[in-house]
Amino acid sequence: MKFFIDTANLDQIKEAQDLGVLDGVTTNPSLMAKEGIKGEANILKHYVDICNIVTGDVSAEVISTDLKGMIAEGEHLASLHKQIVVKIPMIKDGVKALKYFSSKGIKTNCTLVFSAGQALLAAKAGATYVSPFIGRLDDISYDGVELINQIVHIYRVYDYKTQVLAASIRHSMHIIRCAEAGADVATCPLSAILDLLKHPLTDIGLAKFLADAKK
Ligand code: E4P
Repeated sequence: MKFFIDTANLDQIKEAQDLGVLDGVTTNPSLMAKEGIKGEANILKHYVDICNIVTGDVSAEVISTDLKGMIAEGEHLASLHKQIVVKIPMIKDGVKALKYFSSKGIKTNCTLVFSAGQALLAAKAGATYVSPFIGRLDDISYDGVELINQIVHIYRVYDYKTQVLAASIRHSMHIIRCAEAGADVATCPLSAILDLLKHPLTDIGLAKFLADAKK
């Protein structure tokens, strides 16, 4: 399973990259706003800065909601850097845009996916990635990981090439359960990735080994 980091914070992206396990980055307008990145020129520059830190795919989201706008915006984003993946919302014109970008060989990430039906449409339209939001489903008392199981099953039955990118991950157990479900990618906050490192028996064992090494 690939690990993407779900942030626009350059320090966190660098830290994850330095760990040596990072395969890409996802951003969204809320994550950009959280970093205080404002104005079109600054936003576009920030995407390029991210691409220059990592080697993998970097999702940059369109803010247009009509087909013409999404195509213009997406083509501009894709022209910024070869690692840019155009992130498109799961709406009617979004499905048309996915199909358009697929025919042009431009990578896409279909975002705001909350059902298997939406994931089926994204795959049929040729999305490179589909992003089911598991944390937000958990927040309203649905089992987010169960949706990952369902989508992975459907894509395998029909051999769809769209990669399942588990998004809206809140903690390390989400990562483990998405790996068990066969998600192709998990996009995670840095804290959830670092939490995978932790086990009290590792700390206790290491302390004893170091103490014994002095004997
Ligand atoms: C990433 O592609 C998504 O935009 C992100 O994971 C959403 O996460 P949130 O539900 O924590 O906002």
